Amino acid sequence: MIGISKIIVTSALPYVYSTPHLGNFVGSVLPADVYANYLRMRGDDVIFICGSDVHGTAIEIQAIREETTPEKLAKKMHEGIMELFRKYGCNFTYYGSTHTAQNKEETYAIFNALNRNGYIGEVQKELPYCNFDKMFLADRFIEGTCPVCGYESARGDQCDNCSSILDPNQLIEPHCTICGKKEIVFKKTRNVTIKLDKLQPRLERFAAKSSSTWSKNAVNEASKYFKEGLKERDISRHMNWGFPIPLEGFEDQVFYVWFDAPIGYIGITKEWDGKKWQSYWKGKDTRLVQFMGKDNIIFHTILFPAMLIGADLDYVLVDTIKSYEFLNWEGKKFSKSRGVGMDLQEALSVVKNPDYWRFALILNAPESADADFTTDGFVEAVNKIINGKIGNLFQRVFTLVSANEQVFDKKAPVDQQVNDLLDALYKKYTGHFERIELREALKTVVAIADLGNAIMSEKEPWVTAKAAKSDQQAAKDFSSVMNGLLKISYYVALTLFPFVPSSSRSALKYFGIEGDPTLKDISRAPDLKLDGAPKPIFEKLTDQQIKKIGSYS
Ligand code: MF3
Ligand code: ZN
Repeated sequence: MIGISKIIVTSALPYVYSTPHLGNFVGSVLPADVYANYLRMRGDDVIFICGSDVHGTAIEIQAIREETTPEKLAKKMHEGIMELFRKYGCNFTYYGSTHTAQNKEETYAIFNALNRNGYIGEVQKELPYCNFDKMFLADRFIEGTCPVCGYESARGDQCDNCSSILDPNQLIEPHCTICGKKEIVFKKTRNVTIKLDKLQPRLERFAAKSSSTWSKNAVNEASKYFKEGLKERDISRHMNWGFPIPLEGFEDQVFYVWFDAPIGYIGITKEWDGKKWQSYWKGKDTRLVQFMGKDNIIFHTILFPAMLIGADLDYVLVDTIKSYEFLNWEGKKFSKSRGVGMDLQEALSVVKNPDYWRFALILNAPESADADFTTDGFVEAVNKIINGKIGNLFQRVFTLVSANEQVFDKKAPVDQQVNDLLDALYKKYTGHFERIELREALKTVVAIADLGNAIMSEKEPWVTAKAAKSDQQAAKDFSSVMNGLLKISYYVALTLFPFVPSSSRSALKYFGIEGDPTLKDISRAPDLKLDGAPKPIFEKLTDQQIKKIGSYS
């Protein structure tokens, strides 16, 4: 499917209350970035949209603790995280935020349309309220004794000791976790809702059409919710941080974070370009491809499409959902407090070349099942594969050619079998990309390098090079083998681009390609341009680095 079509690629918008860890990265932003790079190489009109999801209780509470405002805290974190992604080579068309005038405008437009169309309702509730802090308390900000097991620090929604699911009003002697006081009362209040039940038939019809290009876990989860029957769901919260509900009687509440966050994809595109955003989000032929972790599935298969379908404002709905399983760290869940796993900042402070992280993470991405990051696996990916197989191939090929320029004929024909094998591997590579099987696509790049290394061992061109000085046939053989190896190296350099753009550019410079490559470049004859001795593109990890990574378990 070659040709210019408009494609929006999104990654789930990271929260800003902590720095994303490597598991977050490989579960959404990184694969989205890799895929967007591929689409650009293919020549599509693609925009890659991401940004910070800044609303919600967590950031409001964090701001209270740090004695600052949520807005200031969110801005500071947003800038830090955005800078980190830049260091990792992520090529967003735009990295925005959900707290902007544009997103507010879109949120209100969608909410008002839903309301006009009869999909907004209200429920009565009794919610815990702290008389000292003068605020309603979200489930996780009220604690007390568990009525089931007697554990003293049960949260409003669950007891961590006996796992019972709780309601805040079941807690014995509850206290507020912000001020620590026991001045909690239950107050009658109202919440605004979205009538998902009423939207279910339209939503199911949409899912039936779209879900052939959703990850399996997304299809399964959505159908589970449909079977249970969708329920009316509240979308307002008694907080200050967020967009106020534009409805009489509810002005003291803000939108639930999961209402304005997915609208953020649209708002951020509008923040990027106040004119062009429409040609993507309201285009008839736009394809929307969304990347996320599995904990985000319900919001992208149910809530967000329901909001857009109910609003009837002609926004593009999701076509492809790529939802990742989780990455664990040495068999354990990532946890900052327990020191398990590295965040993006920590990882880069130990191993500075972001391409090593990008490469190792995708090679082991939790594409269809949970995966485990291990220090050994990382060392193997960097030392043995990207350095040992790929870097070594480049280095040996470039060095052999440059050392034997007098006998090398760059017009000598490449063996047909090598051409056929390369064609087949390249087809396999693009096939995996079309199906967004990034891990397999990367393994195919490694397989191309393996082909080169196998030819190198079998043909021993350094032996023919010696003979070539006095033997014409040997010179022909040497040139033909080396042209095959150059072509293979060129394919590796080019197909690496979506995964490790910066290293790929360094390798492609040797072939005279400046700037970002396209898939069309693959048919160019590789023409080695050496300016002195070639410099290694990759290097091994040091023992010190390896030890440091191991200490994060
Ligand atoms: N902030 C959420 C998370 O990290 C993802 C939000 S995705 C969006 O889990 F759809 F809301 F934007
Ligand atoms: Zn309190």
